[in-house]
Amino acid sequence: MKLYFNPASPYVRKVRVTAHELGLGDRIELISITLTPVSPHEALRASNPIGKIPALVLDDGTALYDSPVVCEYLDALAGGNRIFPAAGAARWTALRRQAIADGIMDAAVLTRYEEAVRPKELRWQAWVDGQFLKIRTALDVLEKENLAGAFDIGTLSIACALGYLDLRFASEGWRASRPRLASWDAAISKRPSLAATMLSVPQ
Ligand code: BEZ
Repeated sequence: MKLYFNPASPYVRKVRVTAHELGLGDRIELISITLTPVSPHEALRASNPIGKIPALVLDDGTALYDSPVVCEYLDALAGGNRIFPAAGAARWTALRRQAIADGIMDAAVLTRYEEAVRPKELRWQAWVDGQFLKIRTALDVLEKENLAGAFDIGTLSIACALGYLDLRFASEGWRASRPRLASWDAAISKRPSLAATMLSVPQ
């Protein structure tokens, strides 16, 4: 299997952490690419018409995207219901947490593009403020949750979202008013799958 990859992408990190947790890391070849909404990657677009990473290309050429689908595919490949709880309250909690984490990533990545890619004269501060409102509100909700327990697609995604805030928005200082979330993050970050997949700025 081949995974279109960028070392700064929190969505790709979700897939890499999932693969690591499931013992599938060695079966995935990473194809490193760079892309932005205004500089798409042609080979990736041939596999994923939306032009986004992660995209996993199976050995028969089938492409799967985006991160929730790829993570669930890997879970099924490893026997099922290891990262995605099977049913009931645990499943809905994990999926809701994945949605909140992906929402934080969406708002943060869009803000990153606004600041790093959009020409200065076209930047719109009210729009950036709106994205930060989403991020801060979501973090405040997570601060109140009990995240202890199973490491599943929900908690895994939250760890990846927080890692992206640390990479691109360290000055936001999200820990200052969220001590419970900060201490959960410090503990969970020691997990080998997260330690082995730390985000980094592409060279
Ligand atoms: C980034 O450089 O921040 C980034 C790169 C790829 C996907 C998402 C974010």
